[in-house]
Amino acid sequence: MPPDTTTAPQLAPHSLVHGSAAVVAEIVAGLAAAQAQVSPKFLYDALGSRLFEAICELPEYYPTRTEAAIFAAHGEAMARAIGVGSTLIDLGAGNCAKAAALFPLLQPAQYVAIDISADFLHEALAGLQQRFAAIDMLGLGLDFSSQLALPASVRAEQRLFFYPGSSIGNFTPDEAVAFLRRARAQCGNDGGVLIGVDLVKDSAVLDAAYDDAIGVTAAFNLNLLRHLNHLAGTDFDVRQWRHRGRFNGAEARIEMHLEARHALTVRWPGGARSFDAGERIHTENSYKYRQSAAVGLLEQAGFQANCVWTDAQGWFAVIHARAIGQ
Ligand code: AVI
Repeated sequence: MPPDTTTAPQLAPHSLVHGSAAVVAEIVAGLAAAQAQVSPKFLYDALGSRLFEAICELPEYYPTRTEAAIFAAHGEAMARAIGVGSTLIDLGAGNCAKAAALFPLLQPAQYVAIDISADFLHEALAGLQQRFAAIDMLGLGLDFSSQLALPASVRAEQRLFFYPGSSIGNFTPDEAVAFLRRARAQCGNDGGVLIGVDLVKDSAVLDAAYDDAIGVTAAFNLNLLRHLNHLAGTDFDVRQWRHRGRFNGAEARIEMHLEARHALTVRWPGGARSFDAGERIHTENSYKYRQSAAVGLLEQAGFQANCVWTDAQGWFAVIHARAIGQ
């Protein structure tokens, strides 16, 4: 059957060019640094996105179900706080399920799904457009972590940046403010954010969430090496590395690393790096905030918190904040 063009979502070309000179240069610079590091954005190729979906199903990984329970309990209050007819801009949309659950309440005029993994997005958005034919939908394959330029096809009115899942924690606090400022600059005066923030809690709960018993988080972290081999021509052998994920209380963040099981050398076109046994590549930070600190980040970026919803244990917060005059 030919595609139904009346309900097919628009998909704009994506700007993250796999294997592009800039991407390769970024990866190689991180691997060659004294403390080797790789941006967490490279965790999300098609398999990485699916492994992250599996993480969200794990009993140890409390953020997804805790946030979902907050949306289920307070969705109507959120709709009252936000109003209907928004331009719902989903940052890191993935399978688009979190935003879709809010469609009946928020009744957005337009849904803009943005994700670095454009292929994954394409599949998700095509199914969604069939279910919600009345909502104008647009998919953008963008690396929004460093810049947030929206095409003219995104409505200017009532822009609501939807950033659930506590992904803000994957930036440093300074980067988080810069990121929120970029969203603020795209908001006009009638826009805002609806954001999920993971709160500081007992370190045993945090450690288990990022080093689960059946090893899904380990697979997610290790898959990054396969992705680097694809993007930058490195010759990582995944079996030579092990996953580490632990809460650093002084920095209030989970740190994920990949640790060399023995001394080894990684090669790529034009370069190489040797690692000692136990030497690590830092792959992700996941900052945890106190509620007041999360509200403070938003204020520094030009937003004012309107409502904060949390769960009974105070593990997670969903915050609606409005853009304030610049
Ligand atoms: C996407 N982000 C919010 C997740 C987190 O909890 O920081 C990524 C993740 N890393 C390991 N497990 C989940």
